[in-house]
Amino acid sequence: MEATAKHLLDWYDANARVLPWRAPPGAPPPDPYRVWLSEVMLQQTTVAAVGPYFAKFLALWPTVQDLAAAEDAEVMSAWAGLGYYARARNLLACARAVAARGGVFPDTEEGLRELPGVGAYTAAAVAAIAFARRAAVVDANVERVVSRLYAIATPLPQAKAEIRARTEQLTPNDRPGDFAQAMMDLGATVCTVRAPRCLLCPLSADCAGRRLGPEQFPVKAPKRAKPQRRGQAFWIERDGAVWLVRRTDKGMLGGMRALPDNGWSARSDGEGAPPLAGPWQDLGTVRHSFTHFDLDLQLMLYSGADWARLEQQPGEWWPAAQLDRAGLPTLFAKAARLAPETDGEN
Ligand code: ADE
Repeated sequence: MEATAKHLLDWYDANARVLPWRAPPGAPPPDPYRVWLSEVMLQQTTVAAVGPYFAKFLALWPTVQDLAAAEDAEVMSAWAGLGYYARARNLLACARAVAARGGVFPDTEEGLRELPGVGAYTAAAVAAIAFARRAAVVDANVERVVSRLYAIATPLPQAKAEIRARTEQLTPNDRPGDFAQAMMDLGATVCTVRAPRCLLCPLSADCAGRRLGPEQFPVKAPKRAKPQRRGQAFWIERDGAVWLVRRTDKGMLGGMRALPDNGWSARSDGEGAPPLAGPWQDLGTVRHSFTHFDLDLQLMLYSGADWARLEQQPGEWWPAAQLDRAGLPTLFAKAARLAPETDGEN
């Protein structure tokens, strides 16, 4: 084993974070279902945010077969608040594919790649952590550690190939799962974005970036400003119940329960029609940031009574006092806070 990998694993033996989906350093690998579920949840999401969701999913669906048998709507509701909802749809498609194989996950990176919604990162992470396969697991933490270690001057995203090749070289045959998680822990706790703690780092003697100023790595291509979109959502309430719709499976927040809106997600001008002619009253605007644009969403209150026309459209009345159980994505949960209170509750 390369000296660098050895230094890192020794550090991990003493400093591994205790996380609910993990086996302790050197212990046999955990259940592949737990590894896969946690890795899908951890993409684009912090360890702290994932914790309660991981516990909830395991309580509701202790095995991959249980998850495969769940209703789509239940899974989407349980995911509400974690964001990047395509992950939840892919999660379910993947669980069903694994259930169709008798509940057994493929045990190689290539085999895992063939599952629906499993990309290069997840396949490598599950192969390494659950099946002790030597695989290069590269997330944003690993990108930072490796680009500093080798002082990689190429900016991201072009540097990805070089970072992957370096990670591959560095990954040991023995304990590849611990190695991957040690890299992640090092990136999360020592080799941090700002003010890295080089004095505590097991790799500092090997690190080319340390001498040059570690914070300049990874070098990034200048960011384009995010476009700003505007949209409207509609608050339609009758006798303490609010009208909710189910978003189509395709597109943003697909498959999630939501407030009706004017189509801001599909068209940059967000100029689709409201579900009823009106009258509408402005309740205010919330800001929400998506990966590729920022949204100002204006909430409009219906003050008409054309219930017959409304109820011809797909949708359902939901008790306004129990809106927190509807599984709304964060954007709509935020907007709903602008609505007038019903029965002293909201
Ligand atoms: N981020 C993604 N996967 C992780 C893991 N297994 N441990 C800690 N952080 C992670």
